[in-house]
Amino acid sequence: MGQSQSLTVYRRSLRGPAALLTLGAAAIHLSAAPDHLQEYVAFGGLFIVVGIAQAFLGLAAWLRPSRRIFVAAVLIALGCLVVWTISRTAGLPIGPTPGKPEPAAFPDLVTSLFEVTSVPLLLVLIVRGPRQAPDRRRGWLGAMVPLAVVLTLLTFLGVMTGLNPLPFAVDMSTAPPGPGVTPLQMLTEPPGDEPVKAFTLTARVTQQAGHQVWTYNGTVPGPELRVTQGDRVRVTLINHLPAATSIHWHGLRLPNAEDGVAGLTQQALAPGQTYTYEFVVKDPGTYWYHSHQDTEHQVPKGLYGALVVLPGQGPTYDRDYAVAVGDLNGSDAGDRIGANGLLGDLHLTAHPGELVRLRLIDAIQGDMTGFPELLTLLGAPYRVIALDGHDLNGPTDLGPELLPIGIGQRYDLAFRMPSGSQVKLIDNRPRRGSQLARTWTVTLGEGPTPPPVTVHTRFDLATYGTTAPDEVAQRQTFDESRDLVVTNQHGFRYGSEQFLHMFNGRTFPDTQPIIVRKGLFVRLRFVNNTDEYHPIHLHGHVYSVIRKNGRPISGTPVHLDSILVGPHETWEGAFLADNPGLWMLHCHVLVHAAFGLSTMVSYEGVSTPYSIGSRSGNFPE
Ligand code: C2O
Ligand code: CU
Ligand code: CU
Repeated sequence: MGQSQSLTVYRRSLRGPAALLTLGAAAIHLSAAPDHLQEYVAFGGLFIVVGIAQAFLGLAAWLRPSRRIFVAAVLIALGCLVVWTISRTAGLPIGPTPGKPEPAAFPDLVTSLFEVTSVPLLLVLIVRGPRQAPDRRRGWLGAMVPLAVVLTLLTFLGVMTGLNPLPFAVDMSTAPPGPGVTPLQMLTEPPGDEPVKAFTLTARVTQQAGHQVWTYNGTVPGPELRVTQGDRVRVTLINHLPAATSIHWHGLRLPNAEDGVAGLTQQALAPGQTYTYEFVVKDPGTYWYHSHQDTEHQVPKGLYGALVVLPGQGPTYDRDYAVAVGDLNGSDAGDRIGANGLLGDLHLTAHPGELVRLRLIDAIQGDMTGFPELLTLLGAPYRVIALDGHDLNGPTDLGPELLPIGIGQRYDLAFRMPSGSQVKLIDNRPRRGSQLARTWTVTLGEGPTPPPVTVHTRFDLATYGTTAPDEVAQRQTFDESRDLVVTNQHGFRYGSEQFLHMFNGRTFPDTQPIIVRKGLFVRLRFVNNTDEYHPIHLHGHVYSVIRKNGRPISGTPVHLDSILVGPHETWEGAFLADNPGLWMLHCHVLVHAAFGLSTMVSYEGVSTPYSIGSRSGNFPE
């Protein structure tokens, strides 16, 4: 008996769980240590010391139980709980962000749960002391096995999320500040005497038909900004939201410092603050603006709007409408989609014989499939005159077709109103279940509604219109060519389990940036190895589309800021690197971007004073 007696005097049914809980906490503390070392050496060291101590005490509680061991384990558990509670409420007085409460993440919730649970078990062991007689009861094993499975699983999840935490402070500079390096803040619009168009956008929470939405100037979408090519646009953003925010000017070629990306080109604007963007609009066309801080959540709450740049000269239209289709979801979960904020049908005035330009903007958040809207225009022949704001060459008349407009993209349609009947735009995207409620339509003019037709042909931008010279697309050689292969798989990132979306096997911000220099012609090949759609958007530049599935496009030159890459498709686009800075390149399906499908086109020798991560609170996705 002699040897086994010392092992059985403390009840196994208590010290077994106490040991597992302490070991689990140890493993999670150790898994989080590398990240904490980066943030603040002292905290990293503390995590290592506590982790090692808990590992030792956990093993000892099982193998060499004694009152001293239990007392030490209780003290460490209580100490951790006290420090944790302070750090998540008042904030610790020292550290990388003194006095600022940290957000609670999954690994520390598991650790705290383990510690809280271990304390009473350890206290009972301490108070009751060793038993006089050996512990002969057999029941303990039956309870221990399922408990051990659960605790091991929780520990595994805690360790994996601890190893893959929220980034702390990621600096996207391509060089540290110094001689010959351009600080991004210098990349602003140089002064000039262009006519100034000034706007003020106040971001705030608004009640709309019983729903809470996030708005610019009280409406979803925000006010349509209509300016003329060559104008100097000055927009003052006032943030009255309960969260930090920013505005990005989607599709515009503007100076990098005005691009509105939190953590890259600016610090996200804190509640109460004001910020002014200023840029000259070079290219006419249909664009849009939206928040680029916590984009995944802020855009579907309502923070988006149309931006129309009228050409200095060119054909005029009797009616020129911009329609931004997007979510109105505020803080409620739900699928409320509207055309210009209207659920159901949006009715626009147009008279027989009038020439109409309809600028459609897909500002929808989208779901995991990334499925585009499939638009059908009924009641008149029409032409697709521009894509992503850029005119097409020799557009021809089309009948009812499915126009696939990817998330973030724009289609400009032109048509003449028929006499005596309406023109109707419907969305034919297949929908199921709760998505059925998400239909929206646009009706123009008066009279009978055009009869519905069944449409199967999809408009294909690769074969539409007439060829024309294109300096970029027709090049034989490129200075830089890169493949971006899109895949997805489950994994751990940003402190949680995610459906990871990757470029070349990596998620943002660990993706490999495309490093360029001014003057280079850059070709990108997007290879989609998923069953989803990915509209891949480049900031500050315009792609010339070269190939779809290996075949050169045969119609009009096509210039896009977002290339819609369908399931298992391959698209090639190229651009001239002529706008120095640090630019995002990401999928515009917001959930894909939030799950990592984002990278950068970064010019050599550019530094940014901003960073992405929990220290600054900048999360551009
Ligand atoms: Cu429309 Cu990076 O955004
Ligand atoms: Cu953009
Ligand atoms: Cu995507």
